[in-house]
Amino acid sequence: MKIIIINGPNLNLLGQREPTIYGQKTFEAFFEFLQMEFPGVTLHYFQSNYEGEIIDKLHEVGFTYNGIVLNSGAYTHTSIAIADAIGAIETPVIEVHISNVYAREKFRHHSFSAPKCIGSIIGLGLKGYELAIDYFLKG
Ligand code: DQA
Repeated sequence: MKIIIINGPNLNLLGQREPTIYGQKTFEAFFEFLQMEFPGVTLHYFQSNYEGEIIDKLHEVGFTYNGIVLNSGAYTHTSIAIADAIGAIETPVIEVHISNVYAREKFRHHSFSAPKCIGSIIGLGLKGYELAIDYFLKG
């Protein structure tokens, strides 16, 4: 079972960035925890602040991996290109947002990518990534 977590812009600053919204844990520390929690899964992590790099990674893994957990950050609300990339690949994608985007500014309420994903997990903090992996494992 091969699963990748793809994080988009500004998510490299988790732990430092607006901790009241995104928490105090770095993603690297959380990723180590995930690897321990799911020893049977080949778990990869990719982060980029660049739209094209996220699209390239979706193309690269999107025909061979079993699942993609995607938090494309603000690109969620703006990028038709990332939504098209999700539609173009075969691997199922679960969209994750750490914060409850529906309790925030109106521009965060719309996702171009959500209709292309098998589901979305929103507002449950880092736990959302864990739940998404668990879904890919157990269905
Ligand atoms: C986010 C929500 C987005 O609106 C925001 O731009 C982010 C993070 C989240 O995980 O809550 O960068 O995707």
